[in-house]
Amino acid sequence: MNKKYRTFFGLKKEPFAADLAPKEILQTEALKGVKDRFDYVANLGGVGLVTGEIGSGKTTALRYAADKLHPSEYQTFYVTATTGSILDLYRQIAAELGMYQSSNSKAVMTRLIRKAVMDLVEDRKIKAMLIIDEASLFRLEVFAELHTIIQFHQDTRGLLPVILAGQSSLVDKLSYHTSAPLASRIITRSHLEGLSPDVMKRYLEHHLKICGIKKNLFEEAAVTAVHQGSGGLLRKANHLARGGLIAAAGDKSKLVTAEHVRLASSEIF
Ligand SMILES: Nc1ncnc2c1ncn2[C@@H]1O[C@H](COP(=O)(O)OP(=O)(O)OP(=O)(O)O)[C@@H](O)[C@H]1O
Ligand SMILES: [Mg+2]
Repeated sequence: MNKKYRTFFGLKKEPFAADLAPKEILQTEALKGVKDRFDYVANLGGVGLVTGEIGSGKTTALRYAADKLHPSEYQTFYVTATTGSILDLYRQIAAELGMYQSSNSKAVMTRLIRKAVMDLVEDRKIKAMLIIDEASLFRLEVFAELHTIIQFHQDTRGLLPVILAGQSSLVDKLSYHTSAPLASRIITRSHLEGLSPDVMKRYLEHHLKICGIKKNLFEEAAVTAVHQGSGGLLRKANHLARGGLIAAAGDKSKLVTAEHVRLASSEIF
């Protein structure tokens, strides 16, 4: 598929992109809810949970919330979970923290990570915050041990606030009794759902505005088709909306109709 549709509609860049700058992120109520809870965990310490369906905007919401933290006060460390061992995770965290030392011992790695966090807090007076995305991928044994890096001696529980984000299965994994030490440290939860039809309309307009288009290019029925076809989930809505624009341009139609969106839906999962 070529970029002719961009010229046809006068779009300044690829519409419905994944790589949004923080200021291009639409401030929905759900996003604000994640940010408030994120800030609460940042202030208080402990663990915050962000769940949601695939493509519901979890990673974007975390990026938004992290970006709003004051850089002179906080430093965020972002890792994407894997299905590997806890040692793999410790190595990922260590690399994020800029540590050059590594070890095959879990005890050594936890000590090194805690020390790096303590140094940051005590020497540079900066609070560390760990964000673990895709945490639903972790094996159960990782959940059973993860609390050990959050635990500092004495009255220092606020030293490494953690945000765990992932699909809803994350909640199931945290409900196992072996995950209880970690689950007991959770102080807040947010769950992202599909957008309502009204917000979906605003969402489509917002993405077009990012590309320099002030007027709405989607017929009312096309908005409904995007909403229904995506279940309100944003990544899928992006694909349907972009596909609808391409189909409309192919038709030389200045407005995207429900039929254009339906055509687009036959191309995606
Ligand atoms: N608040 C927002 N404003 C504008 N666009 C958004 C917003 N939230 C999400 N998006 C769009 O939806 C896409 C999917 O969002 P995101 O990757 O954050 O979802 P996710 O829940 O992390 O998905 P996954 O389950 O695959 O990890 C983004 O690439 C972006 O284009
Ligand atoms: Mg994500």
